[in-house]
Amino acid sequence: MDLYEYQARDVFEKYGVPVLAGIVADTPEEVRAAAEKIGGVVVVKAQVKTGGRGKAGGVKVAKTPDEAYEAAKAILGLDIKGHVVKRVMVAQGARIAEEYYFSVLLDRANRSYLSLCSVEGGMEIEELAVERPEALARVEVNPLTGIDKAKAVEIARAAKFPEDLVEKVSDVFVKLYDVYKGEDATLVEVNPLVRTEEGDIIALDGKVTLDDNASEIRHPEHEALEDKDAADPLEAKAKASGLNYVKLDGEVGIIGNGAGLVMSTLDVVAYAGEDHNGVKPANFLDIGGGASAEVMAAGLDVILGDPQVKSVFVNVFGGITACDAVANGIKGALETLGATASKPLVVRLDGNRVDEGRAILAEYAHPLVTLAATMDEGADKAAELANA
Ligand SMILES: Nc1ncnc2c1ncn2[C@@H]1O[C@H](COP(=O)(O)OP(=O)(O)OP(=O)(O)O)[C@@H](O)[C@H]1O
Ligand SMILES: [Mg+2]
Repeated sequence: MDLYEYQARDVFEKYGVPVLAGIVADTPEEVRAAAEKIGGVVVVKAQVKTGGRGKAGGVKVAKTPDEAYEAAKAILGLDIKGHVVKRVMVAQGARIAEEYYFSVLLDRANRSYLSLCSVEGGMEIEELAVERPEALARVEVNPLTGIDKAKAVEIARAAKFPEDLVEKVSDVFVKLYDVYKGEDATLVEVNPLVRTEEGDIIALDGKVTLDDNASEIRHPEHEALEDKDAADPLEAKAKASGLNYVKLDGEVGIIGNGAGLVMSTLDVVAYAGEDHNGVKPANFLDIGGGASAEVMAAGLDVILGDPQVKSVFVNVFGGITACDAVANGIKGALETLGATASKPLVVRLDGNRVDEGRAILAEYAHPLVTLAATMDEGADKAAELANA
């Protein structure tokens, strides 16, 4: 889960990372009040989960509360790369002397952590990384030892900070790593980290990505950071039913048991779709081991709720859960859903008690259900029906 800047600011504050005052606001009136409260120069900043806000006109300096009000009017409702601004943060204005860049992230390819750092931070960092990669220090961070003071100093020196700043910035790097580790993040990025005219080092912007795998047990408090309105409604519905569902962009709904089987089903359907006008899988949905009627009904209900779906491919390999139980699950689901189940269903069953399972569905003879003998045949049939 990505955090909004204001949420990242709050987390930073909790860990002692130096930040400036910031107040979130949803209307120009609230922005004016926030600017009055903070006093002096403020910066009104769009809160959207995408980069390049400044360049898109989503970050504006305001010298007075009235200017902040006008800035908010311009920013609220702005479309930044498809994200409409509904909320802004009113931040205390900094007198910036220099802008730096710092991040620590999960480096999957190297099975390690990686810190990136530069004394040339700011809005052009992406260009810098491409055009002058040598200006962006890359320092591997051992996950077992993390960024302690010595490592932080190494990062600061690799980024060529002047020696009289190394002490101060490295203290901030250690605290940012505390955020990364303490919150189970996969990314903590500060751009810009600034030195002010007064000589302070402050995080003026923050991007934090939390590892969702850590949320349920290690960080139940992270649920409060979730953006319930922005979540895809189908994904939210699936989550409420405890289903592993990811919405994709195609027309063939997919239900399978086991993540590996579902992943390969997506591939096979995408491949079969090439012969049927390029139809594609509409989702990932793993109903897990049980495949009971309730789970099957909940899964079908989510998939049929996707208006893009034209057909559904149920691909189940009976292991511990035998195929007859799955067949009864499908039957039960269709009965539960009644008229809601209005799209063709291709079912491929194999494995434990396959003959009994197929016999149940053959006898049931629901007009929307087609049985397929193999995965390839099922994928082809489902793609054909989606294109009909
Ligand atoms: N509180 C502040 N005081 C003074 N200047 C600020 C403040 N916040 C941001 N700025 C200036 O605005 C620029 C852009 O702000 P920020 O980094 O938050 O947005 P951005 O980089 O455009 O957005 P993103 O990080 O989403 O790409 C900064 O580089 C900095 O120069
Ligand atoms: Mg930034």
